[in-house]
Amino acid sequence: MVQLTLPKNSTIRTGKTWPKPEGANRLKTFKIYRWSPDDGENPRVDTYFVDLDDCGPMMLDALIKIKNEIDPTLTFRRSCREGICGSCAMNIDGINTLACIYGIDDVKGDVKVYPLPHMPVVRDLIPDLTHFYAQHASIMPWLETKTNTPAKEWKQSIEDREKLDGLYECVMCACCSTSCPSYWWNGDRYLGPAALLHAYRWIIDSRDEATGERLDDLEDPFKLYRCHTIMNCAKTCPKGLNPAKAIAQIKKTMVERAI
Ligand code: SF4
Ligand code: SF4
Ligand code: FES
Repeated sequence: MVQLTLPKNSTIRTGKTWPKPEGANRLKTFKIYRWSPDDGENPRVDTYFVDLDDCGPMMLDALIKIKNEIDPTLTFRRSCREGICGSCAMNIDGINTLACIYGIDDVKGDVKVYPLPHMPVVRDLIPDLTHFYAQHASIMPWLETKTNTPAKEWKQSIEDREKLDGLYECVMCACCSTSCPSYWWNGDRYLGPAALLHAYRWIIDSRDEATGERLDDLEDPFKLYRCHTIMNCAKTCPKGLNPAKAIAQIKKTMVERAI
């Protein structure tokens, strides 16, 4: 029988249980992944208790309360608190989502909070998105034109503008890519649902004049064709987008131009 040796830091230990707030009537338990690159210790899960009568309704409210009032070392990203910046993406109760728009009441029982899966961790709930952003940059997420720049603006019909709906709203949170099994196993070469959704957003833009180059770049066994339509991406997207559909549209466009 094959014996596997797990890396030293792959075991998650039980961490500290922090004191309960006094006089609370509506306590919620949060079990939160903790890891610091500074102490050489394995990751742990700390347990915190929050009085829901003294806390905002969203997961991010609870995390901010824990950081402000219980444990200032708890580390996570956040900015807008409106589901716009994409920075508070994490795995809550087994779902990749944005903490600022995910209600505490949506989780029955204890709340388990982990960083986005299958990404290197910088600290606690912060994933290292360097590679994810580099993949996004690789699809040229900007308007590419060859004709002379018009005096005023690049015009677009209402109908063509509507083709961008369901694409432009992406906040680059990485919830979809980190829920995708193909991305887990081939993320070094497969672009993943987020980058491919953005690729399609520019392919379909009527003003863009680099469609051929964009498709040529994606004509690759790994960059595009590792999507096996498992649909985790669409299921988890906190903005209700459907990257799998965008990927299918790119594949269709590839076939159409080959005929
Ligand atoms: S549909 Fe494609 S991109 Fe979406 S989760 Fe499945 S394999 Fe990944
Ligand atoms: S498609 Fe959705 S889940 Fe994926 S990066 Fe964009 S907003 Fe996040
Ligand atoms: S804080 Fe900006 S999306 Fe959550």
